[in-house]
Amino acid sequence: MAISFKKTYKFAVKSAFYITFFSMVFLTLLLYYFNQVNYVLITVFTISIYLFSFFVVQYRVERFIYRRVKKIYDDVSLLDSTTFRSQPITTDMATLTKEVKKFATDKKLEIETLKVREEYRREFLGNVSHELKTPLFTVQGYISTLLDGAANDKVLRKKYLERAEKGVERLIYIVKDLDMITKLETGDLNLDYSIFDIVETIKNVFDLLEMRASKKKITLTFDTNYSKPIYVRADQEKIQQVVTNLVMNSIKYGKEGGTTEVSIENLINNKVIIRITDNGEGIQKQHIPRLFERFYRVDKSGARSEGGSGLGLAIVKHIIEGHNEKIYVESQFGVGSEFSFTLEKQK
Ligand SMILES: Nc1ncnc2c1ncn2[C@@H]1O[C@H](COP(=O)(O)OP(=O)(O)O)[C@@H](O)[C@H]1O
Ligand SMILES: [Mg+2]
Repeated sequence: MAISFKKTYKFAVKSAFYITFFSMVFLTLLLYYFNQVNYVLITVFTISIYLFSFFVVQYRVERFIYRRVKKIYDDVSLLDSTTFRSQPITTDMATLTKEVKKFATDKKLEIETLKVREEYRREFLGNVSHELKTPLFTVQGYISTLLDGAANDKVLRKKYLERAEKGVERLIYIVKDLDMITKLETGDLNLDYSIFDIVETIKNVFDLLEMRASKKKITLTFDTNYSKPIYVRADQEKIQQVVTNLVMNSIKYGKEGGTTEVSIENLINNKVIIRITDNGEGIQKQHIPRLFERFYRVDKSGARSEGGSGLGLAIVKHIIEGHNEKIYVESQFGVGSEFSFTLEKQK
């Protein structure tokens, strides 16, 4: 308030000065013309004019301009009460200008964010429907064929039903990934930190994926025998998801009879790094920077039976970055890939 009054006075002081100056000069000239110059009169007149115009200007300005200004101010604050409410309402022009400018900048920024989000939403929806279409049509295709008579043939019936089931499984898998990524991207990551043995977690994943690996004759192993537990501080369930996604990829994109090896190494600063290495197909250099993007897949055709939703690595990245940790990838096309991430070690 102090600032506002100072500024308000300044305006009145100056305006009163101009009026007084003009009137004084005018009066002096007038008196001079009539040969009646009277310094006492001029002084009294000057002081009175000054005081009078000062109060009139001050009063009028406050009443007419600042009232309106205050109204604008109130309207603006009403639009965005969160940013204005905390500050005292002033009638100061400079503050108002500053606030309105800030308000406009904030709004502009907000609109831009909304535009980006809208773009993102559209792209996301497009991708989702695209991802769902393929398995849905597969299922529909098999069911139609069965209805059209294939159901009478015992062998075909079983075969087509199994394929339809595969399609449904894939749909479920995609929907689960979508659910996960949506949760992660809306920001309610809600990490549930605990201290757990990472060796145990990796063993769990091995157990869960053993069947899948053995179908491709892929061996899942550690680089050495981790006989002692290695304790880390993180969200166990989410880290298990990360390891699952990475090991799953190493199986999916690994070669028949290959190996997936997991190692846990100490890093400086109480960190461990977990590496998942395979000797599979590898990734060409140009794909590596985009690998962690949602829906990004090297093999776009989707024809490959192994194709996932393309969300696996995006989920992995979200989880690791949510822990403020880092994820790395190294790969040589035709030789193999290594995905690694850090975790906080518990001493
Ligand atoms: N271990 C790996 N070896 C070779 N390519 C991989 C590996 N992991 C991931 N990729 C490539 O990265 C792409 C993105 O992986 P991901 O996000 O898990 O999607 P998805 O597995 O559903 O296709 C995959 O389509 C695949 O081309
Ligand atoms: Mg995957």
